[in-house]
Amino acid sequence: MHIERQASLKPYNSFGLPATASTLVRVASDANVRRVIDDPELGRQPKFVLGGGSNIVLTRDVEACVLKVEIKGRQLVEERDNAWIVEVGAGETWHDVVAWTLQQGWPGLENLALIPGTVGAAPVQNIGAYGIELKDRFESLDLVDFTTGRTVRLAAGACRFGYRDSVFKQDLAGKCVITRVRLRLPKPWQPALGYLDLERKMAETGISAPSAQQVFDWVCQIRRAKLPDPAVIGNAGSFFKNPVVTEEQCRDIIGRDPEIVHYPMPDGTVKLAAGWLIDACGWKGKSVGQAGVYEKQALVLVNRGGAIGAEVVTLARAIQESVYGRFGIRLEPEPVMV
Ligand code: EPU
Repeated sequence: MHIERQASLKPYNSFGLPATASTLVRVASDANVRRVIDDPELGRQPKFVLGGGSNIVLTRDVEACVLKVEIKGRQLVEERDNAWIVEVGAGETWHDVVAWTLQQGWPGLENLALIPGTVGAAPVQNIGAYGIELKDRFESLDLVDFTTGRTVRLAAGACRFGYRDSVFKQDLAGKCVITRVRLRLPKPWQPALGYLDLERKMAETGISAPSAQQVFDWVCQIRRAKLPDPAVIGNAGSFFKNPVVTEEQCRDIIGRDPEIVHYPMPDGTVKLAAGWLIDACGWKGKSVGQAGVYEKQALVLVNRGGAIGAEVVTLARAIQESVYGRFGIRLEPEPVMV
């Protein structure tokens, strides 16, 4: 366990926003977390869990004790007739784990390639891309409860996964730290190719039965073409959730804007493409100070160099207002605002 005082968080958030943590503790095991909880000084402070920092917007310094999760480890823990169960430390880099499972011959995560962040953050927002969400590949996880100091195992039901949502963003926010995640990779492998961008790749290449490695390569190509690499341009992925409206609301909007990109959901609601709504309001390429709207994908806000959290927030509010003004839809931010 390693404790730093007045630590800069700029290197630890993918947006590259400046902020200081009064205390930052690197934890490499459940036992490390318990030491923090039992510590007479740190134990009393509220806790803030930091994974890869790829889904946060820092608008101020953090007074809470920041736990930087660096718990490692990857192993196959069980092989069943219908699945491989792989256990991974919360501090592992998500994309590296995706690549590793493929190399090991346990496909199933390829649609989730290149999502920034750590394994421990994946269940928090139920990461998803190209037709697959974490919940579709989830077995269970371990967490340390900040109140009791005990390690607890949670199955999928208790995690209450929703679209970019889980119990860790709601009732359990600030109350625990995820230390290990177990992934369930179904056997036999079946590709998930229903997403429009992947259908386009199949048509372009003439490959109708791609391998998992091929899907992985396509997903990497698609993401690189429209999403900025946080190592080069600071960002936190999609800044807003795609709003879900009733069929009636959608009909009304289509009546006014026939072009609107929308996807009917199995439960009768309709998901609208927030990127399209923002784009339609003319935001692509616009900026507030050094915070801007990415030129190739209006759903992503970027740091053009030296942005501060307040600029990101001002830009986000202006976008919300203009989308509300034109479409009557309230966009909800996707990253956690601090
Ligand atoms: N669109 C525009 N203009 C834009 C951006 C998008 O017209 O500036 C249109 C696109 O043409 C497309 C539609 O909006 O028809 C949807 O865009 P896209 O397929 O790029 O997906 P998305 O809705 O923008 C979501 C996820 C991404 C995920 C992709 C692929 C959310 C909030 N975002 O993006 O997740 O990678 O689908 O599955 O659900 C993330 O959460 O950080 C993230 C990147």
